[in-house]
Amino acid sequence: MPSDILRSNPLREGLAQRSIPDPCTLVIFGATGDLTHRKLVPALYNLAADGALPPAISVVGFARRDKSDDVFRAELEEAARKFSRQAINDDLWKNFTSSICYHRSEFDKLEGYEALAKRLDEMDAARGTGGNRLFYLAAGPDQFEVILENLRKSGLNKARPGAWSRVIVEKPFGTDLPSAKRLNDLVENAFDESETFRIDHYLGKETAQNIIVLRFANALFEAMWNSRYIDHVQITASEPLGVEGRAGYYEKSGALRDMVQNHLLQLLCLTAMEPPAGLDADSIRDEKVKVLRSLRPLTGEDVFKHVVRAQYGAGSINGKRVAAYRDELNVNPESVTETFVAMELNVDNWRWAGVPFFIRVGKRLPKAATEIAVHFKSVPPVLFRATGESIDDNVLVIRIQPDEGISLRMSAKMPGSSLRIEPVKMDFHYGTSFGKATPEAYERLLLDAMSGDATLFARRDEVEQAWKFVDAIHEAWQHRSDDLAVYTSGSWGPGEADELTKRHEAAWRRL
Ligand code: BG6
Repeated sequence: MPSDILRSNPLREGLAQRSIPDPCTLVIFGATGDLTHRKLVPALYNLAADGALPPAISVVGFARRDKSDDVFRAELEEAARKFSRQAINDDLWKNFTSSICYHRSEFDKLEGYEALAKRLDEMDAARGTGGNRLFYLAAGPDQFEVILENLRKSGLNKARPGAWSRVIVEKPFGTDLPSAKRLNDLVENAFDESETFRIDHYLGKETAQNIIVLRFANALFEAMWNSRYIDHVQITASEPLGVEGRAGYYEKSGALRDMVQNHLLQLLCLTAMEPPAGLDADSIRDEKVKVLRSLRPLTGEDVFKHVVRAQYGAGSINGKRVAAYRDELNVNPESVTETFVAMELNVDNWRWAGVPFFIRVGKRLPKAATEIAVHFKSVPPVLFRATGESIDDNVLVIRIQPDEGISLRMSAKMPGSSLRIEPVKMDFHYGTSFGKATPEAYERLLLDAMSGDATLFARRDEVEQAWKFVDAIHEAWQHRSDDLAVYTSGSWGPGEADELTKRHEAAWRRL
């Protein structure tokens, strides 16, 4: 019976939909950059290997440097061999790269776009790509404005009759609320919201998508997903990597803007949102934006009570000595940029009143791990009190990466004649249960943008609401910096972060 209801539901699209997209041309602005080499082209190759790409597709790399198609393809091949999820098959690669070409132009020269328009028309005729265009802004964010402006002036933004034209905007989407609004206005000047795809690659991660299924396809969890049963939630994103040569960007950004404004708040939204009216993009995004609106704002002195910021000092990662952030290349030796943030957030709505959400994110932490841990309330302390046994609370952990999966901690009686209670774990691993590798986030996101499905992309109001929340914290930080703690590289962050959880008689999970 429930499956009949689903079958007849017109809203059963969005996340549920998956078919081979229309033939199209993908134009990548900033095609000689890191993102194209490490993520986009390997993702496209993997899609080609899985037979998921449209029957006709062209990929045009748009960038400033002078190079031939052959040199461009050779560079992409070198990167794909290093970064592709699946090993490169020579024949398949040859076939795949025959659809790739290079278009040299300055970003601010209209002629370059006019020449591109002509070239795309010719390619459509030769390759049967039907005039469908997907423009990917993968250049530096300082180039977004001029690219959008020239796409508009050259008319490339306008879909031909019977075809479509879309834009994918890479992160960072602005650096604060005013700049995000400005960028949104620029995008809106050239493309409709339904044609706009703002990337947050965490939404493309398989386990992030599974949060909705876990919550709403299992009667067991949703019934308990509220302040009556849940004590608190911890969301952690830790990485051993340091700033990795990105100081130019990171010095101005810091962990709050780099990770919290987008990835961490998105995970929080998926965890906290109400059931959506359907699986279509807007129903899901409507619910996420409601969570952002319900976040208790952190301003002024409250910021220093509820947010801990810190920067990595020297230390060691996997037995290797690493430098302090301030000693990294191109970092100001007196920098107060945070590489770690821990905070307590409150979602002030009916479901979550009184349940703190703790988030923690940092570089140069001991392990690469992203997870959401839902800590349930304790059982009444009556039945087992006399035995002197302590009982651990139930914890449901959604492992976003690595070793994608879900585990549930429960209490069980240890075998034997006496009553001893020990925590045990029920554990589901994607790899072993489904026996196949999870696709990279960019594979899913590219395919969705080609299919016109914006479910896993951030909507304008979501991005702006998230900036509004984060800007208030940043603003408070501008007035002092004596709260900036230093943590040893390879540790789990500063002691101050532990104080946040201790106030609620909780403790950060050991990962
Ligand atoms: C990016 C940040 O968005 O996400 C990086 O700019 C960070 O600083 C990265 O390292 C983490 O992504 P992932 O997929 O490796 O967890």
